[in-house]
Amino acid sequence: MHPRLHVSEHPLVQHKIALLRDAETSTRDFRALSSEIAGVLAYEATRDLQLEDVEVTTPIKATVGRKVTGKKVGVVPILRAGVGMLDGVLAMIPVARVGFLGVYRDEETLQPVSYYEKLPKDLGERTMLILDPMLATGGSASFAATVCKERGARTVKLLSIIAAPEGVERMAADHPDVEVHVASLDECLNEHGYIVPGLGDAGDRLWGTR
Ligand code: PRP
Ligand code: URA
Repeated sequence: MHPRLHVSEHPLVQHKIALLRDAETSTRDFRALSSEIAGVLAYEATRDLQLEDVEVTTPIKATVGRKVTGKKVGVVPILRAGVGMLDGVLAMIPVARVGFLGVYRDEETLQPVSYYEKLPKDLGERTMLILDPMLATGGSASFAATVCKERGARTVKLLSIIAAPEGVERMAADHPDVEVHVASLDECLNEHGYIVPGLGDAGDRLWGTR
């Protein structure tokens, strides 16, 4: 298993995942739940941000507060489904820069196909959070981490809502330095490369293209 795998055990996350998996959940609720779970994952993945003391004057008196210093955060949703996690992450980290990677998985070969890239320039000065709700074979997430590193990123983390063991192993082999934060580690992949039990096709459920 990946040396830096974190599986959220928060009861509210588990509750929301049960709703997200349900085939009867509406597109509207699916969007809201994806965003809410992503916010919790972002919260957990940014535990190690460094702080510095700052002077703050409250209406009562001057005191010392703490603010995030040094490395700031960049967020990279993988199109399309990763966009469903973006709002929730930005609600937690409103000043984050946002880049986009367009990647889809070829249905026959399951290999990632890249079609768009627009990333911030200062990746090396940021903790980069890659967003993709599904870590299946791991091809798309591994590709995204490679692109971020090639563009200068030194600290990369992956936030996925549901992961298959195969995807986690792929990330361990390709990117052992990349922390992987997931809300659920599922059983396996089926013969079509879908996560079991999973939630089906995240992009289609999120954007109503089923
Ligand atoms: C889904 C998902 C991931 C990828 C995961 O995208 O959002 O990006 O599959 O599979 P992998 O781990 O085997 O690479 P999809 O190809 O369905 O594209 P879409 O988001 O545009 O629908
Ligand atoms: N992509 C999805 O949207 N769902 C899966 O189960 C696997 C890949």
